[in-house]
Amino acid sequence: MRNVLSHGVLACLGWFTVFIGAGPSPVASATPDPLQPTGQWAEQHFGNAALPPMGWNSWNAFHTQIDEAKLVGSAQAIVDSGLRELGYRYINIDDGWWQQRHQPDGRMVVRTSIFPSARGANPEQTSFRPLVDRLHGLGLKAGIYSDVGRNACSQGYPGPDSLLPTGTVAEREVGLYGHLAQDLSLYFQEWGFDYIKVDGCGLNAFSPDKPAVKAGQFRAFPAYVVSDSVNQTRVADIRKLYGEVRDELTRVRPAGDFVFSICNWGTANVRAWGRDYGNLWRTSDDIEPRWARMLYNFDSVVTRELYSGPGHWNDPDMLYVGQGDFDANHLTEARTHFALWAIVDAPLIIGYDLRQAPKALLDILGAPEIVAVNQDRAGNQGVLAYTSDDLQIIVKQLSARDEKAVVIFNRGTEAVNATLTAAHLKFQPGTPIQVRDLWQRRDLPVFTDEVAIALAPRESVMLRVKGRPQLADGTYLSEMPARLYVAADGIRALQPDPQIHRPVDMGDGTTRGSGPRPALAGWGGPRADSTPYNNELRLRGNVYSSGIGALANSRLQVKADGQFNRFSAQVGMDDSSLERGTKVRFEVYGDGHLLAQSLALGADDAPFSLEARVTGVKIVELVAREIGRGSAPTVVAWGEAALRH
Ligand code: GLA
Repeated sequence: MRNVLSHGVLACLGWFTVFIGAGPSPVASATPDPLQPTGQWAEQHFGNAALPPMGWNSWNAFHTQIDEAKLVGSAQAIVDSGLRELGYRYINIDDGWWQQRHQPDGRMVVRTSIFPSARGANPEQTSFRPLVDRLHGLGLKAGIYSDVGRNACSQGYPGPDSLLPTGTVAEREVGLYGHLAQDLSLYFQEWGFDYIKVDGCGLNAFSPDKPAVKAGQFRAFPAYVVSDSVNQTRVADIRKLYGEVRDELTRVRPAGDFVFSICNWGTANVRAWGRDYGNLWRTSDDIEPRWARMLYNFDSVVTRELYSGPGHWNDPDMLYVGQGDFDANHLTEARTHFALWAIVDAPLIIGYDLRQAPKALLDILGAPEIVAVNQDRAGNQGVLAYTSDDLQIIVKQLSARDEKAVVIFNRGTEAVNATLTAAHLKFQPGTPIQVRDLWQRRDLPVFTDEVAIALAPRESVMLRVKGRPQLADGTYLSEMPARLYVAADGIRALQPDPQIHRPVDMGDGTTRGSGPRPALAGWGGPRADSTPYNNELRLRGNVYSSGIGALANSRLQVKADGQFNRFSAQVGMDDSSLERGTKVRFEVYGDGHLLAQSLALGADDAPFSLEARVTGVKIVELVAREIGRGSAPTVVAWGEAALRH
């Protein structure tokens, strides 16, 4: 049965949909209805990050023990080793660069004992301009670091050898809070920086109860961020502060030649809203050079494929290739860490002292075919095609329709024989699939249907494959995550994501206490080829290996750009839905006009075949509207959702 309603019939149902279907909790007139299609691509364009930013940052290599010689030495190594030509461009100074905020004018002063070229005629007129000019002269770009609050992370969490700002309480307030316009004009106009990372310790480490605040060392700032409790975190206030930074950057750099990196460690539900505020946003707490910690950082992005795309990237933190579990004695782990970051479109920011890099490590950071996957211009984050606690297969659609990159990743400590199938790749069964090994940079034998891949513990294999797409006349939406925008996720109450690996050491570095709990919000967000709760997409027993899973009362935008003629999907309430008593209507809009809708579908209704003509349509919007309000989350499936020619 084909339950297709024609466009003509639906034109007159448009208002019905909007007014009757708005649900039982009417939205106050001032607040826009999140389900109301706009016909406008909601994602904003700002900054300069069409591809995941690449470069180097001082923090993982040196912490606050950074100095000019170390920084310029690594920058020079990037040039000499050829990494610059591969795309590594940004040389970013992290925490530790500041001496103080001069009073009463509030001008930031560089610590010239470690950055001698910043020394000016008088001590408070320091300038990073000479260093920035030098980096620009090397064909590189320059990044600086600040905090969205009054004080910095090194001040809130000092190590034994931290170089900290000096002076009075006011002189040590080095963050942007209260000085936004002044600081950004200094950094971006006078000094000429191109990139800023804005941390968030000023919002969580200086609350009135903190001993250093009680002792009068810092002015109190309310705890906006409660790291392990999103529901106690002041999400709206935090968004507002980062939004002010974005807007001020747009003012000081009207040409948009800046990169804005949000660093609030995945707190405050930033994994859902970072895309509207920054060019990249950290999805987790700090990476450490340990395998288990790398898993945690990776897990915080790998299910967020619908939140990333050109200009806006999930950031699982900087690379630790070169140190600890990823050093020259652990090349398997180092390659895996790098391949994982590459396939999820993570920014590739090196955190290693490149002045002494052995060739084996430079070969990893400079693997041209791995970097090319990360920098593919379509900007599709890899999507999980197979997932277990031990083994994952991540497939990334490349800009050539018949090409994909794939990482087969052994997370565990046992060897695994993996089977990579044509279905994982969404290629047609029985047709030849060309394969290239991206580490070895050589072609492997062509296969059909499936191939066995042996993996040592912690090993990953990274391939580029070329074949005949399963969908001959179009593309599944789950093959174009960069063209989806989550306008409304349907989440009613924020919940921490329980899928993220929780290594020890997330608290005080010991196993005192009861261990780390899930902390990063995002559970329930829409997914490619999965329900929001990590079940397979299933309608009355029919499994859909391609599709979009979401909660009811969600709205997804798809950038069709006038390239397709037809939208099609099998829709319904997913078999895994926790709520079974309500119904859901599925609506398809083209540039703001209702094109097709399903009947109101309940838990027992057959999958509904939804089709819409989208010729010339730029923005397709998919609304799953709950009729009635259940007590539990309602899970819906847009099975085989595709744009067709
Ligand atoms: C935080 C950030 C790190 C680094 C340090 C500097 O922990 O997440 O990346 O910038 O602060 O103190």
